[in-house]
Amino acid sequence: MTEYDVTLERTDGPTRTIAIDEDETVLEAAQRAGVRLPYDCRKGTCITCVGRLIGLETEEHDTEESETDRPLEVADAFTYRRSPAALTDPERADGYVLLCIASPRADCRLEVGPRVRAEVGDSPWA
Ligand code: FES
Repeated sequence: MTEYDVTLERTDGPTRTIAIDEDETVLEAAQRAGVRLPYDCRKGTCITCVGRLIGLETEEHDTEESETDRPLEVADAFTYRRSPAALTDPERADGYVLLCIASPRADCRLEVGPRVRAEVGDSPWA
C-alpha cells in the first residue's frame, strides 16, 4: 500500500507530518494520528474541514522542468472520494481542499485550522 507524507501546518499552532495511506482521507489519518482537525458533515458539503495546499513534492521536482512557476494544482496532490460540492471552482483553483474526502497522491504541505476556514465563504449546501 502506498503512503504519502502530508504535513499539516497551523498558523497558530504546531506543525505535524503524518503518513497517509492512498485509500485514507486526510481527516481519517489525522484522527488516527491523534491530530485534531475541525469537521462536521464528512461528506464534502459543509466546508468545515477545509485546508489549503501550500506545497507539493512530486518526482517532477527532481527534473529541470520543476523550475517552472506552475501554480499548485490540488489534482496533483489529492483525489476525492466524491465531488467537493462545498467549494467553488475559484476556491478549488486557489488550492483549497476538503480534508474529509481528500486522499493524497503526493507528499505535500497543507495549511489547516480556523484561519483557512475564515478565508472561504459559507457552503451553499450546509
Ligand atoms: S467535514 Fe464537511 S466538508 Fe468536510
